[in-house]
Amino acid sequence: MKNTKNYKTLEKIVSLCKRRGFVFPSSEIYGGFAAVYDYGPYGIELKNNLARAWWKEIVQKREDVVGLDSGIFMHPTTWKASGHLDGFDDPQIDCKDCKVRIRADHMLEEFHINADKMKAEDINKEIEKLKEKNIEFKCKNCGSKNLTPAKNFSLIVKSNLGSPTDALSEDNVVYLRPETCGGIYLNYKNILDSTRVKIPFGIAQIGKAFRNEIVARQFIFRTREFEQMEMQYFLRPSMMQEKYNEWKKIRWDWYITYGIKEENLKWLKHEKLAHYAAEAYDIEYNFPWDFDELEGIHQRGDWDLSQHQKFSGAKLDYTDPITNEKYIPHIMETSVGLNRMLLAFMCEAYTEENVNGEIRIILKFDKRLAPIKIAVFPLLKNKPELVKKAREIYDNLKEEYMCEFDDNGNIGKRYRRQDEIGTPYCVTVDFDSLEKNDVTIRDRDTMKQERIKIEKLGKWIKENLF
Ligand code: GAP
Repeated sequence: MKNTKNYKTLEKIVSLCKRRGFVFPSSEIYGGFAAVYDYGPYGIELKNNLARAWWKEIVQKREDVVGLDSGIFMHPTTWKASGHLDGFDDPQIDCKDCKVRIRADHMLEEFHINADKMKAEDINKEIEKLKEKNIEFKCKNCGSKNLTPAKNFSLIVKSNLGSPTDALSEDNVVYLRPETCGGIYLNYKNILDSTRVKIPFGIAQIGKAFRNEIVARQFIFRTREFEQMEMQYFLRPSMMQEKYNEWKKIRWDWYITYGIKEENLKWLKHEKLAHYAAEAYDIEYNFPWDFDELEGIHQRGDWDLSQHQKFSGAKLDYTDPITNEKYIPHIMETSVGLNRMLLAFMCEAYTEENVNGEIRIILKFDKRLAPIKIAVFPLLKNKPELVKKAREIYDNLKEEYMCEFDDNGNIGKRYRRQDEIGTPYCVTVDFDSLEKNDVTIRDRDTMKQERIKIEKLGKWIKENLF
């Protein structure tokens, strides 16, 4: 049994996701809908398990972080105050011949120019410099030189709410939140007034965010609708560096704890910062194409609360209960896309092994993350006594764990299917089970099988699963 090298291609991951019901392209029967994906029966289990594991670390295990679930629609001024309406855009270039729209900063990357966070005006200056050096600047799609100058393109998704008659009035414009943290800032005062939190403390939330990405790419890595898991930590400015380092370590270690190999993670310090950030690091993951952003950990200073105080007129300062000192708390955040995280864990878990000349595909998830924990099989489906016993076991286990009952096809095929969705244990009821009241339990990673008495199965699983 040996691993074949360099086999983790994005194509294989995408294909497995579809074939085994993790992720489907949206609206396929209508020809598809770009940059949106749906999560199938195993995808939603994995997503829920990841979200729960994140929540456990960030909220459940901590006395200083509380949870929130705020609305997607918010008062439109929120996004004026946050700077998103004026500054949250990507530079785009259109090809006048083939009509393809391209991220201008990505086009410059090909000339080894780091245009990350560059505005259209600066990008156009860089393009002029290339042209002066007689370097050809062409459409990536059709090779035409007939391109528009770079323009800034807002990423914020706009909609209208209200009655049909006035739906197009500017007064009814609303925005789909481009990041979940906006709802946290607007509830900071509510949480301070209704709970016992004191600075330093954090507020965490998981929810949908929307961005009109010019180029959605790499499967679920960058999509127009996605879920974010964000934690905003409110603190006194003097605490910032200590807490920032603490949270960087917490988030790095979390990935290792749940099975990401340290060699597949890397820190990237941002040289050019978002409009709100004072310091920013990304945790990058070694995706099949290269290391790329997985999670951002940002110091946001007092930007958010100061801006919301200014635009709303509400007092958002904090009074220290001991010294009575008043100040606007500073904020550091951890922010990750749940869908992007799912892709990273899929890539990490994807394993091919050569078993007697055949490729065995396994998703070697940490057992806590596996969508299905145990599959229960009767050896033969046409033997009612085997089916009955297997059903009894399944009915018992499903009270506590996400389980599957499978009596379809030969045992080898059933094992392969469970390997491909990452099920840690398969329990088989055979003829010996009827006499000896025991079952075979087979381990996903080692393929080793052992016999266990049925009355000891629950205890065995509890000890081995968690
Ligand atoms: N509140 C800060 C914030 O939103 P960001 O760097 O724009 O910062 C944070 O996004 C994280 O959200 C990223 O590291 C990524 O994991 C995820 N994310 C951002 N845009 C995404 C998209 N279009 N599709 C999927 N995930 C995305």
